[in-house]
Amino acid sequence: MSGHGTPIPMTSRRAGPLKGVANVPGDKSISHRSLILGAMAVGETRITGLLEGEDVLDTAKAMQAFGAEVINHGGGEWSVFGVGVGGFGEPENVIDCGNSGTGVRLIMGAMATSPITATFTGDASLNKRPMARVTDPLALFGARSVGRDGGRLPMTIVGAADPVPVRYTVPVPSAQVKSAVLLAGLNAPGKTVVIEREATRDHSERMLAGFGAEVTVEDTDEGRVITLTGRPELKPQVIAVPRDPSSAAFPVCAALVTPGSDVLVPGIGLNPTRAGLFATLRDMGADLTYENEREEGGEPVADLRARYSPDMRGIEVPPQRAASMIDEYPVLSVVAAFARGTTLMAGVKELRVKESDRIDAMARGLRANGVTVEEGEDWWSVEGCGPDNVPGGQTCESFLDHRIAMSFMVMGMGAQNPVSVDDGTPIATSFPIFERLMGDLGAQISRDNS
Ligand code: S3P
Repeated sequence: MSGHGTPIPMTSRRAGPLKGVANVPGDKSISHRSLILGAMAVGETRITGLLEGEDVLDTAKAMQAFGAEVINHGGGEWSVFGVGVGGFGEPENVIDCGNSGTGVRLIMGAMATSPITATFTGDASLNKRPMARVTDPLALFGARSVGRDGGRLPMTIVGAADPVPVRYTVPVPSAQVKSAVLLAGLNAPGKTVVIEREATRDHSERMLAGFGAEVTVEDTDEGRVITLTGRPELKPQVIAVPRDPSSAAFPVCAALVTPGSDVLVPGIGLNPTRAGLFATLRDMGADLTYENEREEGGEPVADLRARYSPDMRGIEVPPQRAASMIDEYPVLSVVAAFARGTTLMAGVKELRVKESDRIDAMARGLRANGVTVEEGEDWWSVEGCGPDNVPGGQTCESFLDHRIAMSFMVMGMGAQNPVSVDDGTPIATSFPIFERLMGDLGAQISRDNS
């Protein structure tokens, strides 16, 4: 579990250009879903390229607690022996999901239509995050929940003994909520319908279909209508987890702001529900190209090539793109500081309820390091300093948020003075090889705040 150990301050400073190949780890969203759907199938699901970050390891432990057998063969190869839809047993202990909103929300959905009770907790970040967005729709299936004030963890879910299918319009753009409802719908008889007004990442729909569930998706005036037929027998799968575009964002953005850089990030999924950052960077004038475009496992994939880009300009990021790059705004705001002109990011209220309030966390750190930031409840803007004029020189708080910590490490690579974070330990939740990978490219990240 993250955030409970001794904080490790980290500092990133300008070094030479970043050069080479960055093999980033497996996709976090797909890794969680591989374990959970594997646990709900009957028989052995084999997974290669699983992200072995703390978030996903906490989900693996949780699946064991619900009765699945999970085996780590080493080198990213895992097996899950599933217990079937409706086959979860009652865990003996509290389920600790660490830092992971995806883990806890998806698992709550997966258990909510079985006649079992489970109590969930997490670290100080997760225990502040809103869970009513998941427990509200789960109540429609017949599940009950008791949590702390404001619908926070620790929280107990009493699964529905006689679940009924639901029709639910997701009130916020959230793939976690959509996925929790779909996973709950697996063990409800009849058809569960989820409607989302804005398309969010569609890994659950794709993977449910891959596991043999009957899922249809229709684009209508109401939005995307996803219909799942309950009580399927899920068939175990062989899954090769693609590399994570949200992790690729860090070496890509680091190359764009570090003079002389040329970095190749191979095998990155360009699923349109995830690739908004790369389109935005290209709109800003970044030298970012897609090489060797291909299809793998039904998903568009390319090798990303990012080169130093001193001529980037600020833009208005289209709000309708927000869901497809929601995790990438922190590092985009760092790139915006190295561009010329203003970058406006609107329609991003959800950033306030991530692992941290990401607008607040980034605004504080950027301002401390000499960058002008303005913000409202659901928007923020960054005044570019130009490629060679970002002052840096200060320590930022990472607020138990991996993406905040990594974003400020990227800032230090191009800024005039080193940039530090008070605690780099959260990086291990999603990108445990970050320091080594960036170091191999030529970055200078040290574990101190001098
Ligand atoms: C995720 C959905 C997003 C994203 C998170 C992963 C997922 O969260 O921020 O990192 O795997 O479903 P929301 O559903 O809260 O938008």
